[in-house]
Amino acid sequence: MAKTRDDEEQKPEHSSSRRRFLKGVGIAGAGAAIADHLWTEAEAKEEQNGAGRTLSGATKITLQVNGEPRTVEVEPRTTLLNALRNHLEPAVTGPKLVCDMGTCGACTVLLDDKPVYSCLVLAVDATNKKITTVEGLGSPEKLNSVQAAFVEQDALMCGFCTPGFVTTISAYLKKNPNPTLEEVREACKGNFCRCGTYPRVFEAALAAAKSAI
Ligand code: FES
Ligand code: FES
Repeated sequence: MAKTRDDEEQKPEHSSSRRRFLKGVGIAGAGAAIADHLWTEAEAKEEQNGAGRTLSGATKITLQVNGEPRTVEVEPRTTLLNALRNHLEPAVTGPKLVCDMGTCGACTVLLDDKPVYSCLVLAVDATNKKITTVEGLGSPEKLNSVQAAFVEQDALMCGFCTPGFVTTISAYLKKNPNPTLEEVREACKGNFCRCGTYPRVFEAALAAAKSAI
C-alpha cells in the first residue's frame, strides 16, 4: 500500500521494500547494460529470499487521474511521478521532478486526498486510488482558493516547488479550514522552497483560508 507523507515523516527509516525500490532506482542510473544485469541479480536474490513474486516487464494499468481513467503502460518499478510526466499521453506535468528521493515535495500529489511524494510511490501501487494533481484542484478559468491566493500574494518565484505547496495546502485546508500561521508552517514542513518564498507561501495559505470562511 502506498505510504502517505505523514507515514514517511513518522518513520524516517524507509521500509525494506522501499529500500529495495530505491536501490533499483540507483541501479537504473548506473547505465543500461550494468543496470539490467544488476537488476536481474537483485530480482533473483529476492526470489531466493522468498520475498514474494517479482513483477517484471511492462504492465498495462489504469490510473484514476483528476477524475478520469487513464490507461498507461509502465514497468513495475516506474514511479507514479514518472508515469504521470513521461508515460501518460497527454502528460500530466504539474507535479515536478526535483530531488527524486522524497525530500523536497515538488512532486506532491494527493492519493485518496492525502499528500504523498509521487516520486516514492510506484505507479502500480496507485491503481484503484483517486489521484489528484495540481491540475485537478482547479482550472485556469476557475482556480481553487489556494491557487488564486498564490497568484494574488505573488507566492512563487521559480515555480518548481509551487505545485507541491499548492497541493499540500489545498489538502490541509480541507482538514483544518482556519489554521494559524504555525499550523500552516507545520503542514508545509515536507515542502522546500530553495529560493525562500516561504513568507508569501504562508500568507497565501492564510489568505486562502480566510477567503473560504
Ligand atoms: S521530487 Fe519527489 S520529493 Fe522531491
Ligand atoms: S519558488 Fe521554487 S524553489 Fe522557491
